[in-house]
Amino acid sequence: MAVSWCGSNFGPYSPGMRVHLDVEKCQGHNRCYALAPELFDVDDYGQAVLLGDGSVTPDLEDKARLAASNCPEYAITITDS
Ligand code: F3S
Repeated sequence: MAVSWCGSNFGPYSPGMRVHLDVEKCQGHNRCYALAPELFDVDDYGQAVLLGDGSVTPDLEDKARLAASNCPEYAITITDS
């Protein structure tokens, strides 16, 4: 009997880590940009903006965690699937 991967949570594709930015909480401390410029930029008002769609490649996971843990406003969260 064939086994289908359809509908499984353990399929061959895993979206991996994602970083999320709550722009309402951001107060422009810019630690995220200083620690992870591959993931964050700042706009003309000094507020953080996410680069890309929030996907974090494995080589940037440590920087994403560092940015999240160093934001004094708790504006950055990480999800890992
Ligand atoms: Fe904003 Fe926190 Fe970065 S306050 S600029 S998200 S360190």
